[in-house]
Amino acid sequence: MSLKRVFVTYRLPEDILRPLRGICDLEVWTGTKPMTPPELFSSICDSDGIICLLTDEITRSLLENQEKLNFISSMSVGVDHIDVAAATNRNILVGNTPGVLAETTADLAFGLLLSAARRIPEADKFVREGQWLSDMPWSPDFFLGKDVHGATLGVVGLGETGTAVARRGKAFGMRVLGWNRTQKKDVEHAELVQLDELLAESDYVSIHIARTSETLLFFNHERIMSMKKGAILINTARGGIVDETSLANALKIGHLAGAGMDVFEAEPLLPESKLLNLKNVVFSPHIGSATSLTRKRMAELAVENAVAVITGRRMPFCVNPEVYRSR
Ligand code: DGY
Repeated sequence: MSLKRVFVTYRLPEDILRPLRGICDLEVWTGTKPMTPPELFSSICDSDGIICLLTDEITRSLLENQEKLNFISSMSVGVDHIDVAAATNRNILVGNTPGVLAETTADLAFGLLLSAARRIPEADKFVREGQWLSDMPWSPDFFLGKDVHGATLGVVGLGETGTAVARRGKAFGMRVLGWNRTQKKDVEHAELVQLDELLAESDYVSIHIARTSETLLFFNHERIMSMKKGAILINTARGGIVDETSLANALKIGHLAGAGMDVFEAEPLLPESKLLNLKNVVFSPHIGSATSLTRKRMAELAVENAVAVITGRRMPFCVNPEVYRSR
């Protein structure tokens, strides 16, 4: 019997891929840039499974033409780059990597929060650029920021990462409010409130909801303007959840004091983005889970999902387990 063919869209380290060697016919993309849609299409046409990244857009039209594909294992917890409904219709299993990146992403969310509150990137630039001059070494109104301790943190989305951010808020002596789209029974580290109350009372709002058709532009003009005046908005969840034009306006008119943004409507952030001209925005380039250990764990889980399917076991981290019912 011929081996199943598995295609990997990124050069993952050989020690990570080792469990796949010998149990499948493995092909790894060697390009140095993300695959283009035609490249992705032609590379997976013949595959039984693919291991992909969140930059690989697995659209409905791409899946419609796949006869053979049995699974998609993404090295990410978010699967909004995959048309999961289309995959489910075609009985294609979709795997992700939950449980290993929440704490790392929460660290970054908190880093952005502290950076925006205390204007750390601005201050760093000031020192580096030689603007810290001896005729004004210190003054009472020099680089004034906002206190974090004693302030109110609103966590929007109380999944793994939101809960980890709420715990950090508590440790910093904050009052922590939380809201979740679906009802939650066991909420830790946050006081559950309605969304409008959270937005009106929080000095810092950190977003931790998934991007779905229902959460696109969830932070629209109205919701941004219903945030407390002088608040800071942090997004480490997904681009497209925040309406960046409305956010830029709210920052420009001083309704919001700052923002910490790791994810954007378009990635990389377009040079014409209105956010780029605002010095009260702290940026990072979608690096929420970017530590060596966490990325290793994510890659291991993506491979584990693939190995399970190839060896006839159940995919351990499957986002559409209903596929198993129709097999
Ligand atoms: C994910 O896994 O969805 C994250 O965005 C990666 O940082």
